[in-house]
Amino acid sequence: MRFVANFKTNHTRASTAEYIKTLSPILEEIGCKNTLIFPPATALQEGNSTIKVGAQNAYFTTNGAFTGELGLEQLDEFNIKTILIGHSERREILGESQEFIAKKFEFFANEGFEIIYCIGEPLEIREQGDEALFEYLFAQFEGIDTNYSKLTVAYEPIWAIGTGVSATIDDIKLVHNKLKEKLNLPLLYGGSVKVANIADIAQIDSVDGVLVGSASLDANEFAKLIKEGLGA
Ligand code: PGA
Repeated sequence: MRFVANFKTNHTRASTAEYIKTLSPILEEIGCKNTLIFPPATALQEGNSTIKVGAQNAYFTTNGAFTGELGLEQLDEFNIKTILIGHSERREILGESQEFIAKKFEFFANEGFEIIYCIGEPLEIREQGDEALFEYLFAQFEGIDTNYSKLTVAYEPIWAIGTGVSATIDDIKLVHNKLKEKLNLPLLYGGSVKVANIADIAQIDSVDGVLVGSASLDANEFAKLIKEGLGA
């Protein structure tokens, strides 16, 4: 099981350093080596042997005139080699199109980054049935090289993100099993994963890890979630 934390627009540089200081010894103790956190851009810093740090976003450039964006040069300074691409908040709120996302993917894949690539559907699509659901989800792979060796896919139904209502075990199985059938890739589930539901979610065969927002913000709570997920 892989545990990935998405801080979104939460935490500062100082509180992220504090977070790593709190979480690392706990992970060390339980022998958990592959936790990944995505702090906001101002809090990017080098990780350590238990916690890898990735970027929530960057532009497909080394540097240049892209006001408000980060490029490869800024990520390199902190030795950041992991990026989150396609999160629904960037698709929906920031208006990133599939074409734009595919360009970002191609650039960072060419740079050898580990990519956590998010897909997910809104409720109105889910309510239209399985055919519409899978059509919508697979359209989010347009322009994406799914054979890229450092790719992990995160399935995050939009209606389950930040709502406190996770998808049911059957909902998750339906999509993850279908994705596993088509793609030979590690799969994360995301959307209201918390201490109370991680044990059940972690038991699903086609779930290789979780992408956690709200329940990752407190280092001790996230540690509890990780322990629960590992049965440690
Ligand atoms: P959530 O967010 O855990 O707060 O639902 C997950 C995500 O958007 O990555």
